Amino acid sequence: MDGAASEPGTGPTCATDGWRLRLDAGVWRGPAGSLGERLEQFVEEYAQVRHAEGRGEGGRAAVQRLPFARTGDPMAAAWAVRARSYRHLDRRLLQQLPAGSRILDIGAGNGWLSRRLALAGHRVLAVDVTVDPHDGLHAAAAAAPPARYARLEADFDDLPLAAGSADVVIFNAALHYSPDPARTLTRASGVVRPGGRLVVVDSPFYAHSSHGRRMVAERREAYLQRYGFASDALGSREFLVARDLVDGEVGGMVRWRRSRPWLGWRMAMRPLKAHVRRRRPPAVFPLWIGRRVV
Ligand SMILES: C[S@@+](CC[C@H](N)C(=O)[O-])C[C@H]1O[C@@H](n2cnc3c(N)ncnc32)[C@H](O)[C@@H]1O
Repeated sequence: MDGAASEPGTGPTCATDGWRLRLDAGVWRGPAGSLGERLEQFVEEYAQVRHAEGRGEGGRAAVQRLPFARTGDPMAAAWAVRARSYRHLDRRLLQQLPAGSRILDIGAGNGWLSRRLALAGHRVLAVDVTVDPHDGLHAAAAAAPPARYARLEADFDDLPLAAGSADVVIFNAALHYSPDPARTLTRASGVVRPGGRLVVVDSPFYAHSSHGRRMVAERREAYLQRYGFASDALGSREFLVARDLVDGEVGGMVRWRRSRPWLGWRMAMRPLKAHVRRRRPPAVFPLWIGRRVV
């Protein structure tokens, strides 16, 4: 790739062999159709769902406030939880990072976190398959210093990035979209330099896969009723279990520390409510920070 993510001063570098990228309004993209049918169907259905939820309303100013939602945001309750989680991540990791850290924000969405990181002086590459102007990488134009901020349309299972070229790789509410989270994490950990950090935050974790599978079945049913499609083109797992992080190849490369952010009373009461209603236990949303050790 010529330019953008490979320019001096920007974030993790691209290994460019076999990639032909063009710059489209600030986003590095492959040729039309290069994401493949499955991802393109996902992108289309995802945009429908997100627009129906009112995501992206409020424009650029609203994106710039995130994760602190504007008054009247239809997703205000969800953002209130995410803001708590972000503050926890900030205290546990972001405040300790040296300025100029090379950070990869994978599944960056509208780029709110990337933008904050770039404004804090880091060199950031936001990666996503969605370039939607309200909710994807094209919305991410929101006023970050371009010298420190690049955007790339790419599948997180096929990252055109050089081994060891990032100090920190973050999956923010994104890893559970993978059909095989352990495989996705293993690939991403190859992009982290030894000693660097791998972060998983704001993904739903269950103690038992069976509870996660029940959640997925309930969610599919709700989507079919509401939108007429199940929104499962990616075959995403849609939830994680601790084993995805600590077993297998990634477990050998990364030493993890897990912490639980305080997400407010509504979230804290969910297990009790589920118990009283005899429903499956709800997901929890821990912060995992891993250090690459080999
Ligand atoms: C819930 S959103 C999170 C967006 C943002 N990180 C945030 O915190 O608001 C999940 C994002 O993961 C992206 N995503 C899903 N599958 C992906 C893939 N295979 N490669 C790259 N991004 C993907 C989606 O397009 C979406 O923007």
